[in-house]
Amino acid sequence: MSVDLTVHLGRLTLKNPIATASGTFGYGLEFAEFVDLSSLGAISVKGLSLRPCLGNPPPRICETDAGMLNAIGLQNVGIEEFLGEKLPRLHEARATVIANVWGDTEAEYRAVVERIGDDPRVAAVELNVSCPNVVKGGMVFGNDPAALGALVAAVRPATRLPLVVKLSPNVTDVVAAARAAVEGGADVLSLINTLVGLSIDIETREPKIGFTTGGLSGPAIRPVAVRMVWEVRRALPHVPIFGIGGIETAEHVVEFLIAGANAVQVGTASFRDPGISGRLVRDLARWCERHGVERVSDLTATLKTRPRPEKAYV
Ligand SMILES: Cc1cc2nc3c(=O)[nH]c(=O)nc-3n(C[C@H](O)[C@H](O)[C@H](O)COP(=O)(O)O)c2cc1C
Repeated sequence: MSVDLTVHLGRLTLKNPIATASGTFGYGLEFAEFVDLSSLGAISVKGLSLRPCLGNPPPRICETDAGMLNAIGLQNVGIEEFLGEKLPRLHEARATVIANVWGDTEAEYRAVVERIGDDPRVAAVELNVSCPNVVKGGMVFGNDPAALGALVAAVRPATRLPLVVKLSPNVTDVVAAARAAVEGGADVLSLINTLVGLSIDIETREPKIGFTTGGLSGPAIRPVAVRMVWEVRRALPHVPIFGIGGIETAEHVVEFLIAGANAVQVGTASFRDPGISGRLVRDLARWCERHGVERVSDLTATLKTRPRPEKAYV
């Protein structure tokens, strides 16, 4: 049986639902010896800003149980070097590119997206409104639905490319943020970014990370991410979703699809195994074959929930 792995996220069509998550796969090119970049559904590149950014001083990452904390601080080469140096090589490698962008202000976000414009070498723009590791920017928008809606509406006219908005899990109501993003003009939602955490070296009594707090990622966050995808899918049944958080196996991909994702992004797992994204494409096809699933898109939003009791059992 040949499995149809194609997925449609509104106007964004991907050859399969496996993308790599921003900040965990460099600009894609660094991974070319481990993965055929053209075999992936998409590559979301490291968050791009108007000017190059050095990020936070080290230490910037530490391991945790079932995951890691990072506070890289959005280090990147800046939009000009990306467009001039990285994008032509990604295009040559026939990669499907998602340009992840960020700014400190609405005007900066808009300026980066204007610079990308309608570049045909870019499949979609992803707004990171949810980075917990910078003093300004990201989180200010991600935590306030009104500010988020206004930001998306301000950026929307700057490109005709599909606009993905990446949501923060560091909120009490992810659905309110999702609605605001869609009302502002988002075509696709991606969730989740990292959860704010703190790890302490008890001998020195100092934070293990220079920025004090960091973003938690990896398998530890998967159930939170799956729950949030499910909540957003229930509230906004027609909005395409990238599910992100702790994916390491084809079974994890299937779990996100059942919860309501149309595609996924693989993050921290690429640090442990740089070839994992390519393998997941093959493993997912095999999983579908074994389970008689002809089209991977048929898995999306197929969760069978049980009615919840009126009162909690004691
Ligand atoms: C080291 C590191 C850097 C990251 N940088 C970015 C970034 O620049 N932009 C962004 O939107 N998300 C960034 N993220 C968040 C990931 O894209 C992803 O949403 C998160 O790690 C959860 O997925 P995972 O558990 O599979 O890693 C970063 C994550 C890590 C671990």
